[in-house]
Amino acid sequence: MTIKHFLKFNDLSASEIESIFDKAKWIKSKYKAYDKYWPLEDRTLVMIFEKASTRTRLSFESGMHQLGGAAIYLNTRDSQLGRGEPVEDAAQVISRMCDVVMIRTFEQDIIERFARNSRVPVINGLTNEYHPCQILADIFTFIEKRGSIKGKTVAWIGDSNNVCNTWLQAAELLDFNVHVSTPKGYEVELERAGLYSDDHFEQFDDPMDAAKGADIVTTDVWTSMGFESEKKERIKDFADWQVDTDMMKLANKDALFMHCLPAHRGEEVTSEVIDGSQSVVWEEAENRLHVQKALLEYLLLGSK
Ligand code: CP
Ligand code: NVA
Repeated sequence: MTIKHFLKFNDLSASEIESIFDKAKWIKSKYKAYDKYWPLEDRTLVMIFEKASTRTRLSFESGMHQLGGAAIYLNTRDSQLGRGEPVEDAAQVISRMCDVVMIRTFEQDIIERFARNSRVPVINGLTNEYHPCQILADIFTFIEKRGSIKGKTVAWIGDSNNVCNTWLQAAELLDFNVHVSTPKGYEVELERAGLYSDDHFEQFDDPMDAAKGADIVTTDVWTSMGFESEKKERIKDFADWQVDTDMMKLANKDALFMHCLPAHRGEEVTSEVIDGSQSVVWEEAENRLHVQKALLEYLLLGSK
């Protein structure tokens, strides 16, 4: 049997993603009803973190527990991974001792090399290039609130980082549009974004233009993990790329504000917006739990 990994959003087809959303909806309602659901009894997830996390660790660890399985947390500091054990060797060993692996690391190449040497499915819990689990949760949140995302417009304001790249991949797969506005020098790179074409996104110099008519306005930190040495320069470069109420007024009336969190109020977003009525940031965070449970079940057991 070929192993299915989730290293990039478009590792799954549109119909696979849709079936994960359907399952997530069902899993969420069962969870809310305190109804036990243990399809992954006796299965183990290993979570490898080379960067910090709150949401990703908690949602995978609780999710696995709620599905009847177990999760083991490893970090670079206190495993042999931080002492130079080749990633290929680590993959061989780790994947013989568990049923599924989630990795948060730096370059995408690291997770790709791990997956090539793994006997079990590997899930991307964030790399410098992509954050596919986040966008699964974000689109699921949009669908819950507003229905299908097909043909809708997402305005991405700020850095063309891992979260932005993943929105772009999702747009190509699920047929919606992304308006991207970044400062000069931080534009989307097609190849790094893993895109086949630029058919589903448009770049805007002015962030206000990007927000016009959007159904979702979204942003992220100006300095992602691993880029801390550029922080000072980025604060200057991104000063005009803050999502505020004037920008939200240009979007559609029922537009949602999204942010993967953690957020920096007063930098990429004002408190008024993130704590305002259009913001769905807590729902996005919660939905990480439900969509990832559906993803784990799909990768381990297939669709049923
Ligand atoms: N959004 C997200 O992935 O959060 P953490 O860094 O806390 O995992
Ligand atoms: N772009 C951010 C996302 C954090 C969840 C980072 O990579 O640090």
